[in-house]
Amino acid sequence: MKQPEVRVFEDKNQLSLAGAELVCRSANSAAGERGAFTLLLAGGGTPRALYELLAGESFSGRMPWSATVLFWGDERFVPPEHPESNFRAARLAMIARAPLPPENVHPVPTADYPDAPSAALAYDSTLREYFRKSENTIKTSTGNFPRFDLVLLGMGADGHTASLFPGSSALREDSRLAVAVDAPRGYRTAERVSVTLPVLSGAATVLFMVTGSEKRPALSAVLGDPGQARRKYPAAMVRPHSGRLIWYLDREADVT
Ligand code: 6PG
Repeated sequence: MKQPEVRVFEDKNQLSLAGAELVCRSANSAAGERGAFTLLLAGGGTPRALYELLAGESFSGRMPWSATVLFWGDERFVPPEHPESNFRAARLAMIARAPLPPENVHPVPTADYPDAPSAALAYDSTLREYFRKSENTIKTSTGNFPRFDLVLLGMGADGHTASLFPGSSALREDSRLAVAVDAPRGYRTAERVSVTLPVLSGAATVLFMVTGSEKRPALSAVLGDPGQARRKYPAAMVRPHSGRLIWYLDREADVT
């Protein structure tokens, strides 16, 4: 695996601008090469400013929206219009404002299934079907996995990413693409669906966006001693097989 690329920005706004620029460049490169750009969206609060920028006047005209295909790295098992929904956050910030073909938007189907396990099974099939057709996959010792052009991720103060939390059995999943997980006590919306580590590590490029001083302890371990951190922090377990691993930090989170 290549060395991670780390950039530190003065504040969240500068980080989001740089993130939007990276998304735009990746999108045009992928769309130019293959006619499609597959983007895995991060949940949580950090990426919202980036989503708003992409659909705003500085970037929207540069984005190949008709070739852009969206999936989610994780979702809380709530209706799509619930305040906790990652789909709702991206819809309000970006999807409702961009000329994206509806068939290119693949949220976790939380409204169509009675529970997270059945929604996870359905999402697993959606991912397999899309990437089987696109033939944009990466072969590993445990199977063929989607090769997302770009995966956006955040990191919690406990080192979780997507909805892969420390100590979760989901971290050992090496064949399924999406699983149901329970967030630890104290997290809003315990029932979740998350893509698995093989999906995250299959990407051509992974961009972590991390802001805030509360992330420093976990970040110090993940960037300072990745070998050791991989035993505990899910964010350290994301290791692109043949892709780029990029960390965008704001000054408050900076541990470099
Ligand atoms: C979620 C996210 C989660 C998030 C981190 C960081 O659904 O909550 O997928 O992994 O990225 O918790 O969240 P912030 O960006 O809000 O700090």
